[in-house]
Amino acid sequence: MEMLDIALPKGRLGEKVYSMFEKAGFECPSIREENRKLIFENEELGIRFFWVKPSDVAIYVERGAADIGVAGKDILLEYEPDVYELLDLNIGKCRMAVAAKKNFHDNVNTTLRVATKFGNIAERFYREKCRDIDIIHLNGSIEIAPILGLSDVIVDIVETGKTLLENDLEPIETIVPISARLISNKASYQFKNEIIEKIRLGLSGQVGV
Ligand code: PRP
Repeated sequence: MEMLDIALPKGRLGEKVYSMFEKAGFECPSIREENRKLIFENEELGIRFFWVKPSDVAIYVERGAADIGVAGKDILLEYEPDVYELLDLNIGKCRMAVAAKKNFHDNVNTTLRVATKFGNIAERFYREKCRDIDIIHLNGSIEIAPILGLSDVIVDIVETGKTLLENDLEPIETIVPISARLISNKASYQFKNEIIEKIRLGLSGQVGV
């Protein structure tokens, strides 16, 4: 039988997502065992799960190495992978926001220096405002940038707001709300439609409002 390959984001969100698959009847008990394996198979059901870095899920799915997967809307907006977005799982909720040091005042006569991992999202956001910006691409600990004077503002994910608070930054504007999405490879969606739709239905029954 042909297997359905499912890419899950490694980490706390992925554990939650797997529990939803399990409840929907797509379980793979060996995944619960404590080990460092990254691939788990349930031959009977014809499914195979694998853990990947959350930001890589969309790459696997777009290229067909995984048929379906779960990715954050932040990644989908940033990289715009050519995949179908099948369902908002309404978990992993946070927002993409602009933040700056307290008392920051934007001088519109100067180029705004924006530190971020999400250059495309930031660029689009400021283009709509016709604001001239300079993107400073960082890979993490973005909050440091305004403190050290590397940037004026940051564009980053805010969940509880604790990281901003503890670093004397404050959110200025929300760009877009974020949550985890079920995505599908386009060809897989045609050729493995029955099982993918079963999964979508099983998961959608668990989505809270
Ligand atoms: C994200 C984000 C913030 C933090 C926000 O980082 O970049 O640093 O979470 O969460 P909070 O509002 O609840 O404090 P993540 O843990 O994803 O790692 P990163 O440093 O690689 O961005």
